[in-house]
Amino acid sequence: MAEDSKRDPKLIFVTMPLLDLSAEREFPGNVYLCLHHKMIRYRNKGDSLDLAAFNKLVYNHVRYVFIEDADRAAFKAWVGEAEASDATELSTAPPEAKEIVEAVATQRRAMMDIFESPKDDKAVKQAVEVSKKLVTEFLRKPFAVNNISALQKHSKGCVDHSVNVSVLSVFLGLRMGYTHQIILENLALGGLFHDVGKMLVEAKDDSMLGDDDPAMQQHPKLGAELLDKSREIANEVRMIVAQHHEFLDGSGFPAKLKGLAVYDLARLVAIANIYDNLISQSNAPTLKECQIEAVDRIEADYADKLDAKKLEKVVKILRYSFL
Ligand SMILES: [Fe+2]
Ligand SMILES: [Fe+2]
Repeated sequence: MAEDSKRDPKLIFVTMPLLDLSAEREFPGNVYLCLHHKMIRYRNKGDSLDLAAFNKLVYNHVRYVFIEDADRAAFKAWVGEAEASDATELSTAPPEAKEIVEAVATQRRAMMDIFESPKDDKAVKQAVEVSKKLVTEFLRKPFAVNNISALQKHSKGCVDHSVNVSVLSVFLGLRMGYTHQIILENLALGGLFHDVGKMLVEAKDDSMLGDDDPAMQQHPKLGAELLDKSREIANEVRMIVAQHHEFLDGSGFPAKLKGLAVYDLARLVAIANIYDNLISQSNAPTLKECQIEAVDRIEADYADKLDAKKLEKVVKILRYSFL
């Protein structure tokens, strides 16, 4: 990021919500950030943003970027193209899954509000309501969606990732025999809120924190503490959030819990989280190919760290869901 010292002083800027920026797509104009009351050119026209850089902006509390007023129409069309391709991706869902797809879309909107203001209890309450609705729809038609690709998106950042982990956790939980509504709701909410603590990690000066930074590794604890303040949230959900990075061999974080100390539902959300992250990192051309690659990698690389029985079942369920 270089300061745009030769910026034309007559340029007029308009704001654009950060969540309208798609990662991995070329920008139709320059993108600016306002840091310490100075306008900084962050990316040039034709550049793009990778997922890690996008998430760093979110976790460093950037809510808006700035674009030049002259580029407003070009950006509007650019955002529209992304929305249209999202709609095509989701249209692979069968018609009987309509209510489930709608519930997922509502969950995505609720999650945007949470990332906008994580301490707002009203936003938390709304996310709880929409997650309950998602579980109700899943239970009404448990086999309306057999192929998880119909609900999981190529994540373009932490909002999509949170929704993906939530939906995956419910889908997998249901297929694994967790049919109790309350348990599925806890899975849905644990998945949705698992990374909310990333919003509360204090950035040191202007630097952007990565996932392996010790401060960032406190995000499960910070997330659980944030949810402590909400009466809407069950203790089981806090445990999922607090433990979603713990591994059974004690090599996880932040508490380095071992074996049975790791809460059962947190083990399942941990698998869904890793799986969705592997998909984001994959360069395969289609979502389905990314999913197939991610299943192979999670099976090969995480066998000693995750709950072996659950992993075996998840791998079977996912492989079956790609057929
Ligand atoms: Fe996390
Ligand atoms: Fe995550």
